[in-house]
Amino acid sequence: MSTAKVESVKISLGNFLRSDNLTANPIAKPLIALIENISQSCQMISKAVNQGALDNILGSAGSGNIQGETQQKLDILANDMLIQANESSGLLAAMASEELDTIHVIPEHLQQGDYLLLFDPLDGSSNIDVNVSIGTIFSILKKPQQDIPITESDFLQAGYQQVAAGYALYGPQTILVLTTGNGVQMFTLDRHQATFFLTRSAVKIPVDTKEFAINMSNMRHWAKPIQQYVSECLAGTTGPLQKDFNMRWVASMVADVHRILTRGGIFMYPWDQREPNKPGKLRLMYEANPMSFLIEQAGGASINGQEHILQIQPKQLHERVSVILGSKNEVDRVLAYHQSF
Ligand code: AHG
Ligand code: MN
Ligand code: MN
Repeated sequence: MSTAKVESVKISLGNFLRSDNLTANPIAKPLIALIENISQSCQMISKAVNQGALDNILGSAGSGNIQGETQQKLDILANDMLIQANESSGLLAAMASEELDTIHVIPEHLQQGDYLLLFDPLDGSSNIDVNVSIGTIFSILKKPQQDIPITESDFLQAGYQQVAAGYALYGPQTILVLTTGNGVQMFTLDRHQATFFLTRSAVKIPVDTKEFAINMSNMRHWAKPIQQYVSECLAGTTGPLQKDFNMRWVASMVADVHRILTRGGIFMYPWDQREPNKPGKLRLMYEANPMSFLIEQAGGASINGQEHILQIQPKQLHERVSVILGSKNEVDRVLAYHQSF
């Protein structure tokens, strides 16, 4: 018996953004153009990542960022690619990056737009040289009305005000994951056609999980609620959670969050007492807010221990935050542990 081969119609990122199924919540044309522009920057970064040692782009750049972290050559390269590719788009008023000390306002001789773009150009820097998945995380805000000139304070908007957020994961495949407030979609890069195609739509995170992600080497430094929760995960069926847990820690937030969006889990980078005055390691504006928007759009939850990350009013551009996100029932449990201590 012969069967006819059914060719499934592939939907490109651009066609998806313009598609009819979004008419209930249509995306503004300039925002579509901006997302396409960002996706092209991510393709360029993906190419550079693929070349690696062949193009002499691995290793340290010998400089540091405002957080005091050593910059890798790829951190700087990805940052420059994003700025160059988006500065002349006419869609942005300014950009902010984990790798820049302050905001990058679009120069006066170029056309200005209504959006603010924030990014972690290369997430998972410690994995670059060992050929493990890394990524780019981005967040898009609307410029406050009539605020000219743009200043850092225009960027200090709570996460729920993001109009879009996403990341590109440079792994075995390059995958772009996106939300514009209408669920979460995943697009895989077809290198032959230089186009991202829709490969998963309406992503939903299971509410329950048996998989946690945390850097266990910091256990002795954590606060009591996190110590209790992780101890209970380790106790498995013999403990109060009554299930055996698995553990994963890639040390690239993009890869850990991607796994959670794909099959559930809980990710934690909590406050710890090594540097008690810092709320956490991860950055609110470049990492926590965009990832929290994606996680909540996929039915998960994201907190700093006490409150939902998307509700936090930022006070500084480079603010850090404690992050606990993923499958809703487990995140709610960690929230309750924080409330009971
Ligand atoms: P970045 O490379 O942008 O500085 O971010 C790294 C972050 C995050 O991706 C990851 O979850 C975490 O740092 C890993 O930290 P540890 O090395 O302390 O585990
Ligand atoms: Mn990062
Ligand atoms: Mn980074």
